[in-house]
Amino acid sequence: MKLIIDDAHIDQIKKIYEFYPVDGVTTNPTILAKSGRQPYDVLKEIREFIGAEAELHVQVIARTAEGMMEDAHRIRKELGENTYVKIPSVQEGFKAMKLLHNDGVNITATAIYTPMQAFLAAKSGAAYAAPYINRIDNMGYNGIQVARHIHDIFRNNALKTEVLAASFKNSQQLLELCEYGVGAATVSPDVIFGLVKNQAITSAVDDFIADFEKLVGAGKTMKDC
Ligand code: E4P
Repeated sequence: MKLIIDDAHIDQIKKIYEFYPVDGVTTNPTILAKSGRQPYDVLKEIREFIGAEAELHVQVIARTAEGMMEDAHRIRKELGENTYVKIPSVQEGFKAMKLLHNDGVNITATAIYTPMQAFLAAKSGAAYAAPYINRIDNMGYNGIQVARHIHDIFRNNALKTEVLAASFKNSQQLLELCEYGVGAATVSPDVIFGLVKNQAITSAVDDFIADFEKLVGAGKTMKDC
């Protein structure tokens, strides 16, 4: 399962890249608004930092298929042709997906709440389909189960599309999909930083160091003995 950062704050992205094994960055219009910067300014900075080959996902804003295609072409012009264009999985979106897929555009179908949306997006040529785990949970359904159904639908229909699960609020949600082997998950920095935030883990490491220092002296490590 690929692990992707769902954020547009460059300082957070740099920090996560330094410490964690991540595979790219996703954004959406709300995330861009939270950055407080002009869209292409922040997106170009992200692209420059993660490199030309890394996955960057950027959403269209237009409501019509024609407008979505114009947005998609501008996104690719500004950020590189391998940029994944996120398209809402609605009627106009499916039309845009089909046309863009024929042009060789990488598509991430987004705003997915139901398996049927994902199935139609996959048939329309999306490389990824992004179900919103936590938002589905908040509606009273089971987001993890929806993502699993979508994964199974793709496999049972020989569709190459992968699940890119989105909208996580905790590490348990992420772990369940990791265990199931979905293609990718995109996760906000606060959830990523919380993945191994655990007093037991911290204490175990602290105890090892304290024991070693008793043996060889405070502040000493293996290189010092
Ligand atoms: C991804 O495609 C979505 O834009 C995003 O993950 C939604 O996350 P949220 O429910 O935390 O806003």
